[in-house]
Amino acid sequence: MRAVVRTSFGSPDVLEIQEIEKPVPADDELLVRVRAASVNPADWYSVTGTPWVGRPQMGLLKPKEARVGTDFAGTVEAVGNNVTQFRPGDDVFGGRTGALAEYVCVREERAVVPKPGNMTFEQAAAVPVAALTALQGLRDKGQLQAGQRVLINGASGGVGTFAVQIAKALGAKVTGVCSSRNVDIVRSLGADHVIDYTHEDFTRSDRRYDLMLDVAGSRSWSECKRVLDPQATLIMVGAPKGNRLLGPLSHIVKVRLASVRSSRKVVFFIANFNKADMVVLQELLEAGKVKPVIDKRYELSEIADAFRYLGEGHAQGKIVITV
Ligand SMILES: NC(=O)c1ccc[n+]([C@@H]2O[C@H](COP(=O)([O-])OP(=O)(O)OC[C@H]3O[C@@H](n4cnc5c(N)ncnc54)[C@H](OP(=O)(O)O)[C@@H]3O)[C@@H](O)[C@H]2O)c1
Repeated sequence: MRAVVRTSFGSPDVLEIQEIEKPVPADDELLVRVRAASVNPADWYSVTGTPWVGRPQMGLLKPKEARVGTDFAGTVEAVGNNVTQFRPGDDVFGGRTGALAEYVCVREERAVVPKPGNMTFEQAAAVPVAALTALQGLRDKGQLQAGQRVLINGASGGVGTFAVQIAKALGAKVTGVCSSRNVDIVRSLGADHVIDYTHEDFTRSDRRYDLMLDVAGSRSWSECKRVLDPQATLIMVGAPKGNRLLGPLSHIVKVRLASVRSSRKVVFFIANFNKADMVVLQELLEAGKVKPVIDKRYELSEIADAFRYLGEGHAQGKIVITV
């Protein structure tokens, strides 16, 4: 089967399409023929091998795992002997390391669920990492309640476009921050108020928020706290790429240290894959409460271009790969 692999860290040029052995499902696994995948900043970091602080996990000198990608949607081709919830022919979506390939094997109990009938493979593949991050950030870390005011800084990318819709589905009053070209997109996703960061400084506004989901990580703590109620929560999701040693973590550490004495709560978290939350997303998609926004589509053979575009950090929604 064809798969995206790399044997060293570096620019997207290290990515190659290779013929590798088709996996065989274990007793508790499904073999999925991948029809579409999507890429996330975490995949970009795993290709570049940055920040260096992550190297013990990624591989000190070369990648521990040759295969790349996480989000997929496809059709079950075969199931192991102990699999009870899926059958060959079922359309599914989920997350699994190595998703940028023609096939993946996924354990039945892990983050794989039926694809909603109202979604294409491309739309479903756009969902897992970005939408799980938005869901867990708003609902679990932020404890977002109906009627609360939430600010989403970085509302137009993969995580942000899901966050606006999920916050609305949870009943919040949503303000999204994005650049001029994305104002209409963010408004169309249901944001009650949109701030164009190229014209307006949201930290100088009179508006106050109960929760800020900071996807962009573009502002300091002293700036953010001006618009946060004394009992508000700041959820840090992402930050600029930063230096090679600490990468986005340098911003996270600075904000954590600066906010130590504040009455406001500051939380950084890493989203986790689990079936229960994939089911929540499946239901939101089926109900039409959340619709993936797809920016560009690439073929598997154009994977380096897809990663170059991802690395620019200005996607309008998700970048999808057809397999
Ligand atoms: N903690 C976790 O578990 C987790 C999970 C997923 C992602 N992340 C992190 O979250 C971040 C975003 O991920 P993503 O998938 O949404 O990335 P993405 O799809 O590349 O989107 C990035 C978005 O950020 C916006 N942006 C850039 N600079 C901005 C600024 N100064 N103010 C407001 N918005 C700005 C861009 O919009 P413009 O073009 O309009 O500037 C773009 O739409 C990354 O740092 C990623 O590593 C963390």
